[in-house]
Amino acid sequence: MRKEGDVVRNFERELKANFNEILGVLSDESLISDGKGAVLWVNPGFEQVYGIRSEEALGMTVYELEAKGYFKPSIIAKALERREKVTMVQKTNRGSDILVTATPVYDEQRNIKMVVSYSHDITELKAIQRKYSNLQNQVEKYMTELHELRKGSCGEQDVIGQSLQMEKIIATINRIADLDANVLLLGESGVGKTMLAKVIHQKSQRASGPFIDINCAAIPENLLESELFGYEKGSFTGANVHGKVGLMELADGGTLLLDEISEIPLALQAKLLKAIQEKTLTRVGGTKPVKVDFRLIAATNRRLEEDAETGKFRKDLYYRLNVVNIKIPPLCERREDILPLVDYYTELFNTKYGLHKAWSPEAMEYLTNYSWPGNIRELANVIERVIVISGDSMIGAGDLPEEITNRRQSAGSSMLEEIESLSHAVENLERELIQQAYEKHRTTTGVAKALKISQPTAFRKVSKYIKKPKE
Ligand SMILES: Nc1ncnc2c1ncn2[C@@H]1O[C@H](COP(=O)(O)OP(=O)(O)OP(=O)(O)O)[C@@H](O)[C@H]1O
Ligand SMILES: [Mg+2]
Repeated sequence: MRKEGDVVRNFERELKANFNEILGVLSDESLISDGKGAVLWVNPGFEQVYGIRSEEALGMTVYELEAKGYFKPSIIAKALERREKVTMVQKTNRGSDILVTATPVYDEQRNIKMVVSYSHDITELKAIQRKYSNLQNQVEKYMTELHELRKGSCGEQDVIGQSLQMEKIIATINRIADLDANVLLLGESGVGKTMLAKVIHQKSQRASGPFIDINCAAIPENLLESELFGYEKGSFTGANVHGKVGLMELADGGTLLLDEISEIPLALQAKLLKAIQEKTLTRVGGTKPVKVDFRLIAATNRRLEEDAETGKFRKDLYYRLNVVNIKIPPLCERREDILPLVDYYTELFNTKYGLHKAWSPEAMEYLTNYSWPGNIRELANVIERVIVISGDSMIGAGDLPEEITNRRQSAGSSMLEEIESLSHAVENLERELIQQAYEKHRTTTGVAKALKISQPTAFRKVSKYIKKPKE
C-alpha cells in the first residue's frame, strides 16, 4: 500500500515539475485565465500561434488581447459568458485557423475559478476541406455533363422497319433487352448493328449506365490490349505516366459493344474470354484484378461461325458471345423497309436544314428499286446529300447519283420505259456480261468457265461482241 502511495506522490511531483511540457504536447497552444479573464498562464506554443510574447500576455485580460486583435472572438470570454464549455473555430492575427476549446473550472459554489483553453491548428485541414469541396463540385459538374452526353450519344433511337424480318428483330430485342445475356449482332455494314445495340442498352436496366462502343478494327493491334484493359503506370514506353483506365472498365455498370469483334487477335481473345467469364480483368502491367460488370454485345459483318470453324476465331469465345444471336438482313432482302426509311430520312433532313423538298414519282421509284449495297447508312447519306444539293423543291431523277439511276442496278417499271425491245435488252446484258468476263479472264476458256457455257459458245459470243478473241 505504502509503495503505491509513493508512486502516486512521485508522479504528482513529476507532473508539477513538467507541467509546461505536458500541456505543450497535448495542444498546439493553451491558456489559463482566472474567473475574470485575466491571463494566469500560457504555454510556449501560445507565443507562436498569436505572435505575442508570454510575459506580455501574462499581465493582460483576454478582453484586452481581443481588443488588440490577437484573436477574435475570445473563446474564454465566451465560456465565461455562457458558463460552459465552448468549442469554436477562430482566426488568429497570423491568418491561421485554429480549433479552440475553453472549459470552465468551478469552485464548490459553482463560481468559475479559472478557464482552461487549448487549441489545434486546422489551417491545413481547412485547406484540404476546401479542396475536397471544390473537387466535389467539379465531380458534380462532370456527372451532369456526362449524363447529358450519354443522353445525346445514346438518345432515343427511331427504329424504322415494317418488314416481317425487322418486326421479328424488334420483338426479340424487346424480349431479351432486360435479360443481361450476351448478344451477337450479325449483318453487313450499315444495316443497323450499332443502332440496335444502343436500343438494347436503352431498353435494359443498365440504361442509366454508360454505353461504350469500341470498334476493334479501328484500334491498332499493338494498342488494342491496353485500350481495352487499361494499363498501370510505367508499363510501357510512351504510356501515360499515371496509367490509364481501359474501355472495358469504363463500361462498368453499363453496356460494352465490341464492334468488328472478328478483328481481335487470337491471343487477346483468350484474355477477353477470361474477363467475360470471371467478370474481372487485370490491367496491362498490373497484378491486381479489377471487378467489372457490363453487358456484352458483339457485332460483326463477317460469318463468325465459319471463322470459329476454321480456327480464325476462338470457338469457346464464339459460344460465349453467341447467347442471343440476331441476324439483320441487308436492305435489299427487306425491300418493304426502303419506302418508310426514305420517308423518315426525308423528313429528318428537311427539318434539319429547314427545307421542304419532295421526291418526284420517278425519283422515288429509283430510290425504292435501288439495291442499296451500303444499306441504311448509304440510304441516309444519299438522301441528305440530294436534299441539300438539289435546286428545286421537287427532286427529279436527274438529281440522283449515277449509281442509283444506272439501269443495271435498277429493276422495275422505269426500265420498261427505256428499253426498245426485250431481245435488245437481253443482248445488251449479254454483251455486258461477256465483256466483263473477257476483261477478267482474257481467254474464251476462262469466259466459258465463268459464265458456265461451252467453250465454242464463249468463242462465238466473244467474237460477236469483242474483236479478235484469244483462244
Ligand atoms: N432501322 C433503322 N431505322 C432508322 N435508321 C437506321 C436503321 N438501321 C440503321 N439506321 C441508321 O443507319 C446508319 C448506319 O447504322 P449502324 O451504324 O447501326 O450500322 P452498322 O451495322 O453498325 O454498320 P457497321 O458495320 O459499318 O458498323 C445509322 O445512322 C443508323 O442510325
Ligand atoms: Mg457499327
